[in-house]
Amino acid sequence: MDKPKVVLGVSGGIAAYKACELLRRLTESGHDVRVVPTGSALHFVGAATWSALSGNPVSTEVWDDVHEVPHVRIGQHADLVVVAPATADTLARAAHGLADDLLTNTLLTARCPVVFAPAMHTEMWEHPATQENVATLRRRGAIVIEPAVGRLTGVDTGKGRLPDPAEIFEVCRRVLARGVTEPDLTGRHVVVSAGGTREPLDPVRFLGNRSSGKQGYALARTAAARGARVTLIAANTGMPDPAGVDVVQVGTAVQLREAVLKAAPDADAVVMAAAVADFRPATYAAGKIKKQDGREPEPITLVRNPDILAEISTDRARPGQVVVGFAAETDDVLANGRKKLERKGCDLLVVNEVGERKTFGSEENEAVVLGADGSETPVPHGPKEALAETVWDLVARRLGSNV
Ligand SMILES: Cc1cc2nc3c(=O)[nH]c(=O)nc-3n(C[C@H](O)[C@H](O)[C@H](O)COP(=O)(O)O)c2cc1C
Repeated sequence: MDKPKVVLGVSGGIAAYKACELLRRLTESGHDVRVVPTGSALHFVGAATWSALSGNPVSTEVWDDVHEVPHVRIGQHADLVVVAPATADTLARAAHGLADDLLTNTLLTARCPVVFAPAMHTEMWEHPATQENVATLRRRGAIVIEPAVGRLTGVDTGKGRLPDPAEIFEVCRRVLARGVTEPDLTGRHVVVSAGGTREPLDPVRFLGNRSSGKQGYALARTAAARGARVTLIAANTGMPDPAGVDVVQVGTAVQLREAVLKAAPDADAVVMAAAVADFRPATYAAGKIKKQDGREPEPITLVRNPDILAEISTDRARPGQVVVGFAAETDDVLANGRKKLERKGCDLLVVNEVGERKTFGSEENEAVVLGADGSETPVPHGPKEALAETVWDLVARRLGSNV
């Protein structure tokens, strides 16, 4: 089988060096990568590096190897074009359909999915010109990954940083796996919760659960690769931020509720994949609880935590909003799931069987998605991202009928 053909466009930003790692990940995972840098990009990383790492020729202009008509062939044959970093200038040229170098010619001739990973100073990113160019590119079907917040060139920090190359690679992998399908969540804002809450007993101890957050992260990554603006509310996951995703870190169920209620009014869909503790200790000891000689420990009294899924399902923050819950059941899985769906009032409930060695922390999952309309969508044993794709298919269908 031919290797999937990826064009890696690199434009002239300081983050160009990070595209070397993206290139490595793409080639090592079996992709045939043609790097097309801009002239400015070569001020940061030279053609020799791109050529040696990709094993392919490298040019910036349309005038090299003219007999092969590279200005059309490279784009025509690509399965994916990813531009990382994408400068303000390259975004502007792409949005306006300019064709003044090999990369912009390639962008005009490509009919495959196109991913831009912008990186620039916050002022350049926030400028209305850049924002309008990004909106134009998204409207035409490109995936434009939101930049990360962090250290920028020089002493500045803020929004505009290139996301981690490993996370840009994840977006590329997912977009390639889905093929030329339109990014059906473009223009949508989705909120995903992930991980497991920790309810503190004292400064060193907590009541927690085994949720790793992997399913929630898979949901966030797949939604971003389908064009959505994603807010990920992460409880104790310790995983790197997915590319293009706004991550809000929380610890307890009460904090998670606050973060969800803050993000929900602006969301088209809320997917509650986090394992939220039903109970928390009634009291918090300000100092570490000590062993007392000859005395049994005090029993721990628990109080109920707020039921966030029921709350956001009952009081929809926005008409037409789709709310999805997760139910981890250990027995009588489907019957309990159906009861929970009715009790909570959400639109979809992903029901999976959990146990010590099942689901928690694993890369795979198996579930049935129950719909309030009586539907049942079984998702066979497979990667958590396959379940995530099914959830977004069902959400997108419901959102489609809400417009
Ligand atoms: C040191 C340095 C760092 C730069 N970093 C960025 C950047 O991160 N993002 C950006 O949009 N422009 C950046 N620029 C400006 C671009 O290089 C400039 O706009 C150039 O015309 C972009 O050309 P290109 O889009 O064809 O690659 C930087 C310039 C310099 C000198």
